[in-house]
Amino acid sequence: MQYRDAVAVVSGGASGLGRAVVGRLHFEGATVVVLDLPTGAGREFADHLGKRAHFVAADVTDASEVRAAFATAAELGTLRVAVNCAGVATPGRIIGSRGLLPLDQFRRVVDINLVETFNVLSNAAAVMAGNEPVDGDRGIIVCTSSIAAYDGQIGQAAYAAGKGGVASLTFPTRRSGKAAARPRAVCGSTCPTCPGRRS
Ligand SMILES: NC(=O)c1ccc[n+]([C@@H]2O[C@H](COP(=O)([O-])OP(=O)(O)OC[C@H]3O[C@@H](n4cnc5c(N)ncnc54)[C@H](O)[C@@H]3O)[C@@H](O)[C@H]2O)c1
Repeated sequence: MQYRDAVAVVSGGASGLGRAVVGRLHFEGATVVVLDLPTGAGREFADHLGKRAHFVAADVTDASEVRAAFATAAELGTLRVAVNCAGVATPGRIIGSRGLLPLDQFRRVVDINLVETFNVLSNAAAVMAGNEPVDGDRGIIVCTSSIAAYDGQIGQAAYAAGKGGVASLTFPTRRSGKAAARPRAVCGSTCPTCPGRRS
């Protein structure tokens, strides 16, 4: 995939893994859209990168905000890349010292890590479906799973469930073939930017 002149959307692009991906794609010549919460460092980062970098404030769990972000991206050129890096890893034991893991907490972590991934993936695929294929691909969509999908630790019930869902999402997306975009899931192990590992 040639990134020069391509448009790339990176969710969670204001921090950690997403920020590194944005920086690399921008270096490779892509026009990048940093899709992140309005409260983060996304705008400042996009301003720092300068030309070909745009910040779009959106909550990835919100259908209309993500749709609007992809509409903005499509106006900038041909969307060829979407990378899902937004995520949270709020820990919580199933039965902790204060009782059961609150259902709302479980749901929120799965929502941000899994439902958001589908939200970004489906909107990206919808835009890419209109692209002319280059070397057989209309685009590439990368989703961030985790080693926790296969080897979740104590306190990672919600995180591991969400990341397991992300890993499982890859095959049906690939097989549906409608957008002829290449979906990929990456399963990282812990690194210093891991949500929840920083002090
Ligand atoms: N860092 C690791 O060790 C590691 C390992 C395996 C998987 N991962 C996964 O990689 C991804 C990135 O991790 P990271 O370490 O860079 O995290 P990070 O906390 O540095 O970055 C996450 C970004 O997501 C954004 N975000 C969170 N909720 C959002 C929402 N509702 N809407 C929009 N943006 C939102 C945050 O503002 C932040 O900019 C996550 O999905 C994480 O689970 C990380």
